[in-house]
Amino acid sequence: MKIISCPHELKEYLKNIKNSIGFIPTMGALHEGHISLIKKAKEQNETVVVSIFLNPTQFLKGEDLDKYPKKDEADKKICSISGVDVLFFPQPSDMYGADEVSLLAPKVRGYVLEGQSRPGHFNGVLTVVMKLLNIVNPTRAYFGKKDAQQLNLISLMVKQLFMDVEIVPVDTVREKDGLALSSRNAYLGKEERVEALKVSSSLRLSSAMVSRGVLDAKEIKSAMREILAPLEIFYVEILDRDFNQLERVEIGNSVILVEVKVGTTRLLDNIWL
Ligand code: PAF
Repeated sequence: MKIISCPHELKEYLKNIKNSIGFIPTMGALHEGHISLIKKAKEQNETVVVSIFLNPTQFLKGEDLDKYPKKDEADKKICSISGVDVLFFPQPSDMYGADEVSLLAPKVRGYVLEGQSRPGHFNGVLTVVMKLLNIVNPTRAYFGKKDAQQLNLISLMVKQLFMDVEIVPVDTVREKDGLALSSRNAYLGKEERVEALKVSSSLRLSSAMVSRGVLDAKEIKSAMREILAPLEIFYVEILDRDFNQLERVEIGNSVILVEVKVGTTRLLDNIWL
């Protein structure tokens, strides 16, 4: 596995690759969720590139940038064992200068749900993803469905800015007990880890209700809120795949999303029905 930290060197190196490139952008602290993105990219492309970059511009003041889990050596091993061809490992100074050009998330879709409690977060995400895509110039880029709003906004950016990359959504990976994998799960204490299961339980309940024929969004959301009640709830929403509000679940075109705080840790999860 080749490890490169300079964007220009990576661009030069990848210019010589004539077959398809699959790209997985990450912020490190890799887990099975990331490994499933790498596996998917390996199935669909000849060359696989992973980036590990803890992007400072997507963290708001007072958020967890400084304590975000860092596992550089373990991450390199995971990438190498998983068959990654090139690991891009830049420093903030490789990615950002003074007086930066940056992207603005759309005023509506970028400021609801996670964007409402983290205003400006998606400006940082879109800017760094745009930079990374320009550096790697991949055939396909892989994003987890767990970050559904991020996936939605990146797909929108690629469409609206006429970018030449296929965005591939990949299913959420869960622990046996249902907890969706996330690098931030490392923050959870023992009791918080148990409380966190309310998130996947509420989503399982929503899916069971839909299977029984209950499609009314209000009814489903209020049943979910009962399960989530002791936690700080940021939102429980039922949207279509373009992120428009739904009054009734449309099977094959719905996403049910939850974000809560457990202790000091934000957890988000969703289910696509
Ligand atoms: O999902 C993430 O890990 C990050 O938001 C991303 C897409 C790597 C951009 O920094």
